[in-house]
Amino acid sequence: MVMTQIRKYFGLSLLLIVFFSYNSVYAQQQNNITVNADQGSVKISKYIYGQFAEDLGNGLYGGIWVGKNSKIPNIDGMRKDVIDALKKLDVPDVRWPGGCFADRYNWRDGIGPEKDRPKRVNMWGQVTDSNQFGTNEFLEFCKLIGAQPYMAGNVGSGSVRELKDWVTYLTYPGDSKLANLRRKDGHPKPYHIKFFGVGNESWGCGGQMTPEHYANVYRRYSEFLPNYGGNHIFKIASGPNGADYHWTKVMMKDVGYRMNGLSLHYYTIAGPSWRHKGPSTNFSENLYFDGLQKAMKMNEIIQRNSTIMDEYDPQKRIALVVDEWGIWTDPLPGSHPGFLRQQNSLRDALIASTTLDIFNKHAARVRMANIAQMVNVLQSMVMTKGKEMYLTPTYYVFEMYKKHMGATYLPLHLNVENYTYDGNSIPSITATASQDSTGNIHLTISNLDPNKNQKVKIDFRGVSVRHVSNGMVLTAKSFDAVNTFDKPNTVKPETFKDAKLDGNTLIINMPSKSLVSIDLN
Ligand code: AHR
Repeated sequence: MVMTQIRKYFGLSLLLIVFFSYNSVYAQQQNNITVNADQGSVKISKYIYGQFAEDLGNGLYGGIWVGKNSKIPNIDGMRKDVIDALKKLDVPDVRWPGGCFADRYNWRDGIGPEKDRPKRVNMWGQVTDSNQFGTNEFLEFCKLIGAQPYMAGNVGSGSVRELKDWVTYLTYPGDSKLANLRRKDGHPKPYHIKFFGVGNESWGCGGQMTPEHYANVYRRYSEFLPNYGGNHIFKIASGPNGADYHWTKVMMKDVGYRMNGLSLHYYTIAGPSWRHKGPSTNFSENLYFDGLQKAMKMNEIIQRNSTIMDEYDPQKRIALVVDEWGIWTDPLPGSHPGFLRQQNSLRDALIASTTLDIFNKHAARVRMANIAQMVNVLQSMVMTKGKEMYLTPTYYVFEMYKKHMGATYLPLHLNVENYTYDGNSIPSITATASQDSTGNIHLTISNLDPNKNQKVKIDFRGVSVRHVSNGMVLTAKSFDAVNTFDKPNTVKPETFKDAKLDGNTLIINMPSKSLVSIDLN
């Protein structure tokens, strides 16, 4: 009797266990996203899609500047192939000349007749810098690709006067020695310069300052940044090194509204440490997972910096400017270690999409960001060698995301499966939805799981969707797939058709390790 009851009890328990485990497995296999189209209130600033071009390695020389007498087709010394490619991205702004380089640069070295420009040592790589690509070349480059310039001023080794004079040379419309020098250099009209950085990484290569010291230095330098004519400068202070929240607190408390933006730098290191960052090619799943997990840290870093900023600036008048971000790997074997030349894989494209999703989600505070860097350096858009060029997987992410620029962010609710590797988990799906001024909805979704295709159901609230169009997918056979000079099209977007509307629900079947972009109306 007792035995029968025990058997019955265990039989029932087993049934219940099987039932609940079946249900939880079933529940886990659902990837549900709700797009709250009726709750969109924040515009995604187009400047989140900015770029960074430092005078480092072949970022400028060889990558953009080849000189007017080069056999490589060029416009006033600047590569036509690179310009044409960048034009297609609608790059909103380019930060120049650094980085660490900015705090060692004297703008006067890069103006006037090219033959008279002094040769200097570029500390980053310890090579000779010809200064052929200077202020006016950079501003012409910006014009050619349709971007706004973001000038990074020298605070670490320069002077207040140097910075003030640079602004006067650039923007003063009247009669003055410096404005006349600009005219002599062939630019009668003043430039419109909106973004100016006051130092770079002032906690490190920009002067090894404490935040308390830098806050005072910033107040002094920024006081002498003049607004001439109709030009109004958006002043960006050097901000924290990632999770250095004390830096942010001091800047908000001691500087406050004297700055328009506070910068933030955070790099993804897929590997054990800064000294051993891991290769950019031929890596295994541990570095794929590690890269994505570290990229996702950006969310916490922005969140915690924003919380501090909210205390002092609840109306969010000061922008958080993530003006250096991206994956930083070991340099390519055989390349100059100081030139920071690395390959760019499908993993890196997914790091970019994941990071852009985080920026878009925080668009109320993050109003500018600049990926490091634009050409040949770190996580670049374009790679060049001699006359050859190819576009990286990250280039295509920027191309697929550009419809979000200036659109209204639509808050998402994600209930998605995890991607687990070696006992650690991250969400397998990340996404952005936005609505442009014509009412069209743009969706970008990444499936980060490298081993599993994913079915994703997307419900739209507060809007009726009837048509799906422009589906594109970026994926490849392996997560470490790269483009090369010989095979430039290994990782390239293709048309995507596996998306169907069922009433107001979109059902997408996503390949593993892929990014899908889609429009709805
Ligand atoms: O992007 C490369 C370097 O990284 C920049 O010069 C510097 O600001 C950062 O440490």
